[in-house]
Amino acid sequence: MCGIVGYIGKRNIKRWLIDGLRELEYRGYDSAGIAVMKEGEIHAYKAVGKLVNLEEKTKGFEPEGPGAGIGHTRWATHGKPTELNAHPHMGEYSYVVHNGIIENYRQIKEELEAEGVAFLSQTDTEVIVHLFEKMTKTHEEPYAAFKATIARLEGAYAVLLMSKKAPQTIFFARKGSPMIIGKNAGGEIFFASSDAPLIGEATEVAYMEEGTVGYASPEKIYAEPDALQFVPLAGDKLTAQKGGYRFFMEKEIYEQPNVIGDTMIGRVLDEGVAFEELGGDFLEGLTRIKICACGTSYHAALTGSYLFERQAKMAVNVEIASEFRYKEPLLTDDTLFVVISQSGETADTLEALRMAKAAGLKTLAICNVDNSSIVRMADATILTRAGIEKGVASTKAFATQVMVLWMLSLFFAQKRGTINAEGARREVEAMDRVPTVLKEALTVHEKCKRLSKRYLHGHGFFFIGRDIFFPLALEGALKLKEISYLHAEGYPAGEMKHGPIALADAELFTVALMPQTLLYDKIKSNVEELSARDSTILAISPLPFDLADDFVLTHAHDHPMLEFFEMMVVEQLLAMEVSIRLGNDVDMPRNLAKSVTVE
Ligand code: F6R
Repeated sequence: MCGIVGYIGKRNIKRWLIDGLRELEYRGYDSAGIAVMKEGEIHAYKAVGKLVNLEEKTKGFEPEGPGAGIGHTRWATHGKPTELNAHPHMGEYSYVVHNGIIENYRQIKEELEAEGVAFLSQTDTEVIVHLFEKMTKTHEEPYAAFKATIARLEGAYAVLLMSKKAPQTIFFARKGSPMIIGKNAGGEIFFASSDAPLIGEATEVAYMEEGTVGYASPEKIYAEPDALQFVPLAGDKLTAQKGGYRFFMEKEIYEQPNVIGDTMIGRVLDEGVAFEELGGDFLEGLTRIKICACGTSYHAALTGSYLFERQAKMAVNVEIASEFRYKEPLLTDDTLFVVISQSGETADTLEALRMAKAAGLKTLAICNVDNSSIVRMADATILTRAGIEKGVASTKAFATQVMVLWMLSLFFAQKRGTINAEGARREVEAMDRVPTVLKEALTVHEKCKRLSKRYLHGHGFFFIGRDIFFPLALEGALKLKEISYLHAEGYPAGEMKHGPIALADAELFTVALMPQTLLYDKIKSNVEELSARDSTILAISPLPFDLADDFVLTHAHDHPMLEFFEMMVVEQLLAMEVSIRLGNDVDMPRNLAKSVTVE
């Protein structure tokens, strides 16, 4: 989704803006642009496609500071991905970049057009800059004009605006879309829509609250209605780079043994699980759980539903957030409302959370990004601690979400007395083995690499599994389709005979998740049915299976969740290797964005 950067200081401003935008590339974009203000002039450049095109366009433009600049990567919503629609958008003497959607832009545009303003783009964003310039005619101070402009906007926005009327100043506003401001001892000021461009640059950052409006110049940073709360920003550039791996996705798959350890620290104890984020009476009055999420996070939620019902004996209902928000749901106050989101900014999930809060439900967020919009809104949050995930196809974020849900189901089971001490100890022992299992799972990487060459064609893939391996099948299919662009579907294995098996032939590839600890015989007979119809079978199992055309042998474990995590890694590696062989952009697949901040 769109990314924003801004800079005030003495460096080569163009370089910083483009480098900053590169850190946001993982969010997905289809055009980019910058505007640099120096010695009273503003120079703007835009290009369709990747940042190299923008670099090409700005060759020879090397603006050393002092000055200010704003930059943007655009993921098209209103209007096609063209240069005219790319940000920054300009008026006569001002430039703006914006994330989000201005819902009342048509009305503002009509008003301005009636007054003779000519629009260049099809975007909603362009109204901001023209409205600002109109406001400067009736407001003497540029900041007063900016505030009056923002007051007219409805919808979601993170906005940076520069004007020749206010040298070396950047005006900012945030509502519904994230925006961070950073500074350092050298007097530099930075803006970005997520941490990544600021790491190693700013020493202190402030995450803007909803409704913040303000301005920054070398002399002053001013914000209202509340002053900005700066906190130290930890981390260095290295943490945000590829570290020798071919792709961020590969690095993130390999990070899983470590990050899952982080997820568990202080939470998985000898006798059970503790969450200091949740007070002692957290479950009081709650008997059911509703979980809302999208995409991969939805698959984690489905996995959690099996665990909560089995261990904590709580009725669980899982819904896709974009469906939930328009269905007039029945919400009862004995329900714990859980949202799961890697980014914490997904518009549909955020709206579902808002609705649950408005209905007076107790809310819990399971999220990877502290200070994100979802975290700020929820009553309580459990952070998944996966670290920055840059590959658009989620891997380590999913692993940590599932881990949190497993821990949480045990936590609830203990609180509700639905598990005895011996049972809890067995769960904890299994949890402690997850980092090792994730590490051992990586030994099949070579095998997946070799196998991948046989799966580059065909008319589709079925990923099948039962129980918790059904959501894992959904996730395996999503991973493959996202980055290979091959058609893949996940199914509960028992559903085959109710329709999908009609597709079975030699060019239909079935990836069968066949754990030994859960319903092995049942899934085996489902796979036999597919094999009898000549589907090509890739079995993932610790037990040999004669009818498989291809086989990935997993380790024998005595707990289904350990088999789950190992098979998850196999699916991730397989999808990645297929994508690499097809020559696709593994980290930034076509049409997708990392953080989906629009409906
Ligand atoms: C797929 C993927 C997406 C996200 C979905 C929700 O690999 O990453 O399906 O899971 O867009 O995003 P979050 O978790 O940020 O709410």
